[in-house]
Amino acid sequence: MTVQQLALAVLTLSVAHNVESTPGRPGISPRPNIVFILVDDLGFHDVGYHGSRIRTPHLDQLSADGVRLENYYVQPMCSPTRCQLMSGRYQIHNGIQHGLFGDEQPTGLPLDSPTLADKLRESGYATHQVGKWHLGFYKQEYMPNSRGFDSSFGFLGGHEGHYDHKMTFKHGRKFLDLRDNGQPATGQDGHHSTYMYTHRAVEVIRAHNKSKPLFLYMAYQAPHNPLEVPEVFEKPYQDIHDTDRRKYAGLVSMMDEGVANLTQALRDNGLWDNTLLVFSTDNGGTIYYGGNNYPLRGWKFSLWEGGIRGIGFVSGGKNISMDRGVVHKQLMHVSDWFPTLVGVAGGSLNGTKPLDGVDQWKSISTGVQTPRKWLLHNIDSLYKKKGRKLFPHTFDTRIRAAIRVGNYKLITGDPGNGSWIPPPEMKSALAKVDTEKAKNNLWLFNVVDDPEEKYDLSKNQPEIVRKILDLLAKVNSTAVPAFFPPSDPQSNPELHGGVWGPWEKNVTVD
Ligand SMILES: *[C@@H]1O[C@H](CO)[C@@H](O)[C@H](O)[C@H]1NC(C)=O
Ligand SMILES: *[C@@H]1O[C@H](CO)[C@@H](O)[C@H](O)[C@H]1NC(C)=O
Ligand SMILES: *[C@@H]1O[C@H](CO)[C@@H](O)[C@H](O)[C@H]1NC(C)=O
Ligand SMILES: *[C@@H]1O[C@H](CO)[C@@H](O)[C@H](O)[C@H]1NC(C)=O
Ligand SMILES: *[C@@H]1O[C@H](CO)[C@@H](O)[C@H](O)[C@H]1NC(C)=O
Ligand SMILES: *[C@@H]1O[C@H](CO)[C@@H](O)[C@H](O)[C@H]1NC(C)=O
Ligand SMILES: *[C@@H]1O[C@H](CO)[C@@H](O)[C@H](O)[C@H]1NC(C)=O
Repeated sequence: MTVQQLALAVLTLSVAHNVESTPGRPGISPRPNIVFILVDDLGFHDVGYHGSRIRTPHLDQLSADGVRLENYYVQPMCSPTRCQLMSGRYQIHNGIQHGLFGDEQPTGLPLDSPTLADKLRESGYATHQVGKWHLGFYKQEYMPNSRGFDSSFGFLGGHEGHYDHKMTFKHGRKFLDLRDNGQPATGQDGHHSTYMYTHRAVEVIRAHNKSKPLFLYMAYQAPHNPLEVPEVFEKPYQDIHDTDRRKYAGLVSMMDEGVANLTQALRDNGLWDNTLLVFSTDNGGTIYYGGNNYPLRGWKFSLWEGGIRGIGFVSGGKNISMDRGVVHKQLMHVSDWFPTLVGVAGGSLNGTKPLDGVDQWKSISTGVQTPRKWLLHNIDSLYKKKGRKLFPHTFDTRIRAAIRVGNYKLITGDPGNGSWIPPPEMKSALAKVDTEKAKNNLWLFNVVDDPEEKYDLSKNQPEIVRKILDLLAKVNSTAVPAFFPPSDPQSNPELHGGVWGPWEKNVTVD
């Protein structure tokens, strides 16, 4: 693309996509069951079909029978990805551009726009949540049963013991964080989370009354740390000498088996033929707990590709019409699932605040061109500034931000550690550690030609840089202030029966 073409393209981009799907759009008929599997901290390198040592035969098969999304983006960490999935809106429009929801913070996904579950329920779906929430819980109104789910089972915070289901308060005592429809769920001590959540999902599937379509939101904690895994899953990886990597590999394989059990239950109960299955990670893997994103740069929490380029695919039974066995290379983002799945369900997008996601179903299922031309990775106005402002009268390059426009990705501020770290078992590749202590705060990559972010084009292409900075400034002007409240001592589970849960009264008076 020439500078002129890019300038034209950038200037004609509308800032919020906000494309309402035509009301009454037929969707897929009969309305499919939708099973959304979100896994936690699964690295880009860490599925079999990306050439990993880690074996994921069921994910490989399901994705081979469907569409692999290979230009697919998530956010660099848990709550932001979950919020975008559930709201269809960017972090800057939900006020959660800084960090994730701390378990002790009085915060959550804003209540001012319906969730994906609200919309699917409105379209006649039975809606069930299993596993990790991490969308806020300080008031009842933020709990899963208040956000569109008919049933819920799982934990509310960021991460906890896979066996004891306990989460730590202020780096000290541990308290149970596990609830069944809002009530504390005891008696699960020693039951590994992946077994437990798979078991619950299978129960939901068995009990499902087919007079309604099913929406199951299955959010495994695996393969997130702590690296606790039954020996049977770790054993096949004895050749991996790095203990963390070996245990992490076991957690991935166990999750792969859980997914197999879940899809088998759909088959056994006559639901599979008309089920659309979506699989996604929530962010890149973290090298400090066994995950890996090689050959991408960086990891979880960073704006390098290793933090945000996600594993994702769609699959499903024979009644779901799509071109199968395809690798989809068009730009897609986690916020797109909201309009995509509401569209598939034949629902309308009335009542939502302006969406940043676009309906991708036609593009995924038939390969037609996606309406998505650009993508905001994030602008974090509260993150520590870096270096000096490089261009006058436009976006401040000291601010942590990243944006994708066509094939270009522009990064400003401090994006995080940009090392290339191969997995420990991969002897053929050399780590290239980012020792960058300098003041560089601006990079431009063509991530289609250079997904490893090796060749910074910013010095050679100042005009493109300037155009994209102008776009960032325009996008930033639509941001709401970041909300990042201090920890609230009232969150202490000791004050609430020794179990994590809501600690403040509802906003609205009943
Ligand atoms: C709080 O709000 C939720 C959801 O709106 C409602 O289900 C619950 O009954 C309310 N609880 C109280 C104590 O007001
Ligand atoms: C399923 O739901 C329909 C409609 O509500 C109801 O008539 C039927 O009895 C239910 N079936 C079972 C097995 O519960
Ligand atoms: C999958 O199902 C089999 C057969 O019921 C069971 O033995 C196994 O433990 C299950 N695995 C998981 C991860 O749930
Ligand atoms: C699958 O499609 C066929 C033919 O269109 C239809 O008869 C059948 O009811 C559908 N099955 C399900 C489970 O929706
Ligand atoms: C959207 O429209 C449907 C009817 O078409 C209505 O039942 C529903 O309440 C509306 N939702 C919102 C959030 O306005
Ligand atoms: C982004 O917008 C906010 C107001 O919403 C403003 O305070 C801030 O200075 C802007 N940042 C940049 C880098 O332009
Ligand atoms: C980046 O991470 C690597 C691996 O942990 C580390 O060796 C290196 O010092 C880090 N670089 C910076 C600038 O912090």
